[in-house]
Amino acid sequence: MALARATGFSTTAIHHGYDPAMNDGALTPPVHMTSTFAFETAEAGGEMFAGERAGHVYSRISNPTVDLLERRVAALEGAEAGVAAASGMGAITAVLWTFLAPGDEVIVDKTLYGCTFAYMRHGLSRFGVTITHVDMTDPANLEAAISKKTRIVYFETPANPNMRLVDIAAISDIARAHGAKTVVDNTYSTPVLTRPIELGADIVVHSATKYLGGHGDLVAGIALGSAEDMAQVRLVGLKDMTGAVLSPMSAHLVMRGLKTLELRMERHSSSAMAVAQALESHPAVGSVFYPGLASFHQHELAKRQMSAFGGMIAFELKGGLQAGIGFLNRLGLVRRAVSLGDAETLVQHPASMTHSTYTAEERHAHDISDGLIRLSVGLETPADIVDDLMNALDGETRRAA
Ligand SMILES: Cc1ncc(COP(=O)(O)O)c(C=O)c1O
Repeated sequence: MALARATGFSTTAIHHGYDPAMNDGALTPPVHMTSTFAFETAEAGGEMFAGERAGHVYSRISNPTVDLLERRVAALEGAEAGVAAASGMGAITAVLWTFLAPGDEVIVDKTLYGCTFAYMRHGLSRFGVTITHVDMTDPANLEAAISKKTRIVYFETPANPNMRLVDIAAISDIARAHGAKTVVDNTYSTPVLTRPIELGADIVVHSATKYLGGHGDLVAGIALGSAEDMAQVRLVGLKDMTGAVLSPMSAHLVMRGLKTLELRMERHSSSAMAVAQALESHPAVGSVFYPGLASFHQHELAKRQMSAFGGMIAFELKGGLQAGIGFLNRLGLVRRAVSLGDAETLVQHPASMTHSTYTAEERHAHDISDGLIRLSVGLETPADIVDDLMNALDGETRRAA
């Protein structure tokens, strides 16, 4: 039996859109590894191409396994529809290529993930699109900057890597009043912690490589929004412009991850809180940026907008960049690696790694300090994560003494 009534988050993540009776009782949905679909008749094929008959035509446009993933994540985000892509960048670029034309402006927050920044600053700008950076931590800055040319307002919350938050409801209200679409990268929060569409955003994008997949074994992306917007993204941005479609096998793996998403986010959040408190109390640490800490400058907004505070932390050592390199090299359990949202705790240095797409001046102007360290708190036993970090920090205290 298909589910007949609205269900809770994990029930939706595990069951939405699938009935084993559709497939000989198979509990797990099959993986449709097919590039094309046979038409019953020539007329039926023609009608599908004309959009007059529902059905799958070719897997660059749609595929039943990918379609199930799209419907599941849409249900979790409170969206009408979704479009999966081969990576988070595939989803972001498909959305923006769909809605932008030369002469348009995109207003983006001050801080963005490095490749999103590069796409906007060095990619879109080559095609006559103006990119304006605004500090969206104060919505009044958007109100002052937005114009008739603004088609899209784009931000991450929390932002990668410095954890700045943006008030989704306030920003979406301003964008809507000026006829612009609000696009939110919800990778750090996931729909477990924040649901931007319910707060007024038009489109949500994810790097599903991160928490949605959750196991560090795939690269994937997804966009969610109204049925009308997503039909456009599928038929323009994805089908004709990027072609960056998700493989059915990766869609299957993301769905496997979704089953434990709520459980994992609870554990990521409680472990990260313990880690953030331990970091804050260590004498070698200068600042800790974690929305759950009372000392976090946007803690009130975090409590209003997030149901828990997630697994990502940024911090700075008093000894700056050199101290940070020594600290990274003394870690044992915690892996030095980019990406985030995995079961393994991962640490990296944004200025030389994920955000090296910014020049040194751009990083400075965008609040990404050279000494900043980004930590993705994993699912290991929390005391073991704290031990490893404290041990590496003690080494810094001994070195500085
Ligand atoms: C916040 C954020 N958005 C988008 C992306 C891009 O996702 P992908 O690596 O899946 O293309 C990343 C990747 O690190 C990210 O951290």
